[in-house]
Parts: sequence; structure tokens; C-alpha cells
Amino acid sequence: MRSDGAVSMPDVISIIRAKRDGRELRGDEIDWVVEAFARGIVADEQMAALAMAIWFRGMTRAETARWTTAMVDSGRRLDFTGLGVPTVDKHSTGGVGDKITLPLAPLVAACGAAVPQLSGRGLGHTGGTLDKLESIPGWRADLSSAEIAHMLTDSAVGAVVCAAGAELAPADHRLYALRDVTGTVESIPLIASSIMSKKIAEGTGALVLDVKVGSGAFMTELGDARELARTMVELGADAGLPTSALLTRMDTPLGRTVGNALEVREAVEVLAGGGPADVVELTLGLAREMLAAVGLDATDPADRLRDGSAMDRWRAMIVAQGGDPDAPLPAAASTETVFAPRGGVVTELDALAVGTAAWRLGAGRARQGAAVQAGAGVELHVGIGDAVRAGQPLATLHTDTPEALPAAVTGFLEGVRIGDRTPVRPPLIVERITA
Ligand code: URA
Repeated sequence: MRSDGAVSMPDVISIIRAKRDGRELRGDEIDWVVEAFARGIVADEQMAALAMAIWFRGMTRAETARWTTAMVDSGRRLDFTGLGVPTVDKHSTGGVGDKITLPLAPLVAACGAAVPQLSGRGLGHTGGTLDKLESIPGWRADLSSAEIAHMLTDSAVGAVVCAAGAELAPADHRLYALRDVTGTVESIPLIASSIMSKKIAEGTGALVLDVKVGSGAFMTELGDARELARTMVELGADAGLPTSALLTRMDTPLGRTVGNALEVREAVEVLAGGGPADVVELTLGLAREMLAAVGLDATDPADRLRDGSAMDRWRAMIVAQGGDPDAPLPAAASTETVFAPRGGVVTELDALAVGTAAWRLGAGRARQGAAVQAGAGVELHVGIGDAVRAGQPLATLHTDTPEALPAAVTGFLEGVRIGDRTPVRPPLIVERITA
């Protein structure tokens, strides 16, 4: 308050200085700076300086909650409460071979909850759900609000995975692009508010978070992953969105495939009642958590995989978005097999190394907006704990750009260790965090 009684307008330089010097920002300062940034009044370089100050100084629970609300308020907020069905969504903080959304959304729909999953595309070594689904011929990610509502209430579908659209939390959209090029992504309050602002704006009735920890995740240490999960669960509670989190290991890829069409094929195997044990375990674990969040936990989701109803939902979901679930998936033009350099037991198959190899092969993008190859990626023939002979195939690398193969092979092998003893593996689902 000024001495003449008028409320002084916050100014961006004093806000940057305040955070730089470690002062907790007031609610009105946060509201103003986020809104002014969204309207282009606060320049990119000023917001980048503030993001760096937040990176160093952090934010309190109250600041993070207010920052999240300001980002939600920068755009539209969807509301599914009038649809007459309970809605629940799952968000993963991103991993290698993480195709869980693909079997999970139709599975939870087959159990009676509606799943509005508004997703993004991948960046760097972690894949994006939309990139995976776009490898299905004809499938389209961009839907209108009416199409989303129709799919959620259609008793034969009940799930939708589509692009989030620029109107949801647009301030986050701009800020994330800026953080990406200014070394300010790895900040727990900024990651938590970025993810939760989009999920709150999406309008889901409940949310389950899959917070990854390990070499292929944002958070490589358990303590950091726990703090990120707690922060997001608290933000959900503060916004009236029931939220819980599972902390899950991401030291090695999920399943045996990394890359868009390769992962779709594996997801369909899970829906058909097969697939790799870790993908099935995590799909069922998250499905149980989502069903419990909306009071539908009397149903065993494993039954819906066995009786084919989850597969029926998958097919209906793909058709409703223009895709052909029976069309052959694209295959890459070139492949190369990588062989075991010695015999023994596979003790390490590092998620970051495999994810980076898949990215180099063309499965991922280095910059937002770049194209990805549908058929590119890594197909693993062994997993951690498997015995191998010298010269046995470890993996097949797929790409349309064969010049990428030598670096991808080298990078892949840097992530492989073959030892003499079977390693002890930590559980895939490490911990559950609730409000
Ligand atoms: N994903 C997001 O949406 N935001 C982040 O800040 C990090 C990951």
C-alpha cells in the first residue's frame, strides 16, 4: 500500500529482485506476473530471470499453489461434472518405453470410469503418448470439446486421449518452452505447478500421478521424486482435485519396446491379455488406484483384460478418433541388430541410454514442433536378469535414417552391463503418496 492509500501495481523487476533475494512472493504479485507474462507484458527474458530465481530459491506451498491457480486462470477450464459419469485421469512424469496410457485408458473405461486424458507430445529421450498414437494410420489428436464429451459419454468408448489444446493453461505453455531453453526445467515447484495447472484446467474429477524415479526420469533420486509427488498431491488437494501418486522405478525401459509404433504394438499385446510382465503390473496398479479414486474399486481390472472388454474399448477409442485399429503399423526402413559382447547375466539396461538411442534413431524430437519417425526405436530382446551368450542378439534398432545407426549402437551399448551374478531388482511400484 502506498502512503496515499492507493494499491501499488507490482512491477516485474521488483518481483524478480524479491525472489532473487529469497523473499516469499505475495499472492497479488504472483497473479500479476503470470497474467502479464501470458499477455506479453512481461518479456521472455524477465520471466526467464524469475524462473531462474525460483530455481535457486524455491517456492513455499502457498506460493506454488497460487502460481498454479494463476496458470489455470490464464486460460480455459473444462468441466465434465455435468456428464453424469465419474472422470479420472492419470499423468506420468515421463519415462522410457512408457506406453501405459494406451492400455490403461480403455481398461479403466471398461471398468466404468470415464478417462479424459489430455496429453502432450514428447521431448528429448522420453516419448509422448500422442506421438505413439499418431503412428496408427488415420488417428488424429486434435478434437473439439464436443467430440471429447461425446467420447466420454458413449457407453462403447468412455475414454479419450487427445491433444491438450493451447487454451488450457497457456501461461504454462509459454513458460515451459522458455524453461526448456534456459536450464530451468528441473525445479520441483515449477514442474509441479506446470503439470498440475494443466490437469486442474482439464477438469478431471480425480487424478492419479505416476511419478518416475531413476536414470530415465526427471528425478533420479527417490527423495526428489517423493518431494515432487507430495507437492503435486498437495496442489491437487488445495485445488479440490482428489490426487494420489505412485512412485515407480524408471531405471530400465518399461516393457521391451521404445519408439512410437513399436510401443503401440506392445500395448495391444497387453490389451489382448499378454505383453511384458512389468507393463501389465503397472497398468493394473494404476488402474486399481484410479478406480479407487472414484469409488469403483469393487471391479478387478485384470478381469477386463481377460474378457476382451478393454480391447473392445481400445478399438472403439481408436475408431472414434479416425484411426484404423486393424491397419498395419508403420515399420522403419532400416534395422540393425546389437549383439552381446560377452556371456553372463544382464545386470543393467539403462533407461537413459536406451531412450537416447531411440531418440537418435528418430523416435523422439530435439525441439518442440519437430517431426518424429513412426517406425523408429529400440526393440529389446533381453531384460535385466536374463542370461545371455556372447554374440546373442540384445536388441534390434529401427530407423528411417540409417546414418543414425552407428551412434545409436554405441550409445545403446554404453547402457548395457553384463555381469556374472543375477542382480537384485527393486520393486517396480515403490511407494504410494496420498494427501
Ligand atoms: N512436464 C510438464 O508438463 N511440465 C514440466 O515442467 C515438466 C514436465
